[in-house]
Amino acid sequence: MKDKLDHNNLPAHIAVIMDGNGRWAKKQGAARVFGHQNAIEAVREVTEGCAELGVKYLTLYAFSTENWGRPKIEVEALMQLLVTTINSEVDTLMKNNVSLTAIGDIDSLPGDCKQKLKEAIELTSGNTGLTLILALNYSGRWEILQAAKQMAEMVESGKLDATQVSQELWESLLSTKNIPDPELLIRTSGEMRVSNFLLWQIAYTELYVTPVLWPDFRREHLHEAILAYQQRERRFGKISEQVKS
Ligand code: IPE
Ligand code: IPE
Ligand code: MG
Repeated sequence: MKDKLDHNNLPAHIAVIMDGNGRWAKKQGAARVFGHQNAIEAVREVTEGCAELGVKYLTLYAFSTENWGRPKIEVEALMQLLVTTINSEVDTLMKNNVSLTAIGDIDSLPGDCKQKLKEAIELTSGNTGLTLILALNYSGRWEILQAAKQMAEMVESGKLDATQVSQELWESLLSTKNIPDPELLIRTSGEMRVSNFLLWQIAYTELYVTPVLWPDFRREHLHEAILAYQQRERRFGKISEQVKS
């Protein structure tokens, strides 16, 4: 599958909604948390898969603002897993020249998660290959609202005139500033929705939904998704004849 990929037409940014851990566990007759524990291998596979292909940015939706509403025991297990995973995976990030960063309301995460995350971000900051972006305590509407608040404050304090509002300025206030929009969004487990992920940034992103549950996702599945992307015609509102090169 990897050999079939056109290496001159790779997405620079792939975003993933990692879904289906709970159903994967249920199928084995296990508790939901078992699914989350078994999701780490898939994270490693896509990260290494993207790094080896030369994809520049990989954004993984790890915890949404709405996920706080899950049972307390699951939320606590997810936060704990985040800490242990950062600990265990940082060597893999270094080995693959991956720099880690995060988007979302990071300040509101538990103290030990924030601390571990900060350490791993610092440690990997010199790496020049793939940038791995963890979306944690993230939601698209939260991001849009916080940008709107910043903009309102700029106008209120006289730093900005309403006529200066532009797409560039707006994007500089999002947590994804300096990161190009994803060309490809993958969602596992068959759900046909975006669940409050990157609402502004996915305006023209190609969507790829696979029935594979996240803990079963491997780099072959990543290659399949990229191959499907390469077979799409991205028209950006124009007609086919205009975009054929
Ligand atoms: C995705 O799997 C992981 C998170 C949202 C943290 P789920 O936990 O949503 O699994 P399903 O969708 O219930 O199967
Ligand atoms: C989206 O999955 C969030 C993450 C993958 C972190 P959910 O399982 O929370 O989404 P819904 O509830 O099915 O829309
Ligand atoms: Mg889910």
